[in-house]
Amino acid sequence: MSNELKRGLEGVLVAESELSHVDGEVGKLVYRGYDIEELARGASYEEVLHLLWHGSLPTPAELEEFRERLAAERSVDDDVIATVRTLADAGERPMAALRTAVSMLSAYDGDDDGDVLAEGSKITAKIPTILAAFERARQGEEAVDPDPELSHAGNFLYMLTGSEPDDVSEETFDMALTLHADHGLNASTFTAIVIGSTMADVYSSVTGGIGALSGSLHGGANQDVMEMLHEVDDSGKDPVEWIADARENGRRIPGFGHRVYKVKDPRAKILEEKLRDLAESSGDGKWLEYTTAIESYLEEEGLVEKGIAPNVDFYSGSVYDAMGIPMDLYTPIFAMSRAGGWVAHVHEYQDDNRLIRPRARYTGPETSEFVPLEER
Ligand code: ACO
Repeated sequence: MSNELKRGLEGVLVAESELSHVDGEVGKLVYRGYDIEELARGASYEEVLHLLWHGSLPTPAELEEFRERLAAERSVDDDVIATVRTLADAGERPMAALRTAVSMLSAYDGDDDGDVLAEGSKITAKIPTILAAFERARQGEEAVDPDPELSHAGNFLYMLTGSEPDDVSEETFDMALTLHADHGLNASTFTAIVIGSTMADVYSSVTGGIGALSGSLHGGANQDVMEMLHEVDDSGKDPVEWIADARENGRRIPGFGHRVYKVKDPRAKILEEKLRDLAESSGDGKWLEYTTAIESYLEEEGLVEKGIAPNVDFYSGSVYDAMGIPMDLYTPIFAMSRAGGWVAHVHEYQDDNRLIRPRARYTGPETSEFVPLEER
């Protein structure tokens, strides 16, 4: 048994997977061999889910059936919606409310037969409904019922705002969902398969995945980036001056750096391009200007050369902002998409399951003399 310690499991292979591959040296991401750029531009999120869950891009007939099945699962029990509204009224953070609600869903799963893909598709279908209901409650509005005729992306925007989205918003949001759907054994996906490896249900895996994704070193960074951009704006300083001060104060720059990518994340490139389009059409290019100025400065400062380059979170927030989406929904939207990846990985892992159980190097005392409570 090796005693080599791999902090943060860096570089450790713990499973085989056909789902997605990240080449961090060249900045390439594929889902089952398909380049992320091609998928983001050419396939809907539902097609990508089909690819991840069933192994192939669907034919038109398969897609229709798949979309119908998913759309039929969008409704969420009134009890869950009531809890979501209670949490919104109590000022709970949306990511925490989503974690609670997904955990609660299992109580209302009629079949509950342990079929990962069947249960996983229910969870994936219901997350947008939960999140939209939460946001509507915060705005003092009633929840909007899902519309089965709309796409996964379009229906979420519809439930969020109460009106059907325009084509650009729907396409942009759909692209963002595709870009975030899967990413190898990142921290939240690993969490999901650790839970799945105990043969716990997929509700537990997705609930755990949401918890892991919420942290600032992982999915929480997209909100942190937008908060940083607002800080820059409020400071009245030039973004470059602000970021130079932040660096001097030892601040980590959210949206920069990645455990696997040593170059710019391909998803960030696509989102940056999208942001450019949105800025051009709206005439509001402030966040684009700030983000690109920060990126150029950090590149000049040698960060990119050291392998600390923009990751997916650097540009996603600005894209959501351009669509009028509140900042603290960015990470739950990431979860909305990544739920599909968590389900795919748990399904794949359990097919040839082995309990995940690593070890820690014990550094405590060899023996400690026990002293009864009354004598301590
Ligand atoms: N800003 C400034 N310096 C950084 C940054 C950053 N964002 N990220 C890493 N570094 C530096 C560290 O200070 C460290 O420098 P040192 O060796 O001089 O001490 C070096 O790079 C290595 O950093 P580690 O934290 O050891 O690298 P790790 O692989 O653990 O980091 C992580 C990956 C956690 C993502 C890190 O880059 C980070 O904190 N980034 C900011 C948060 C973020 O954007 N997270 C989202 C990641 S993408 C995703 O999860 C969806």
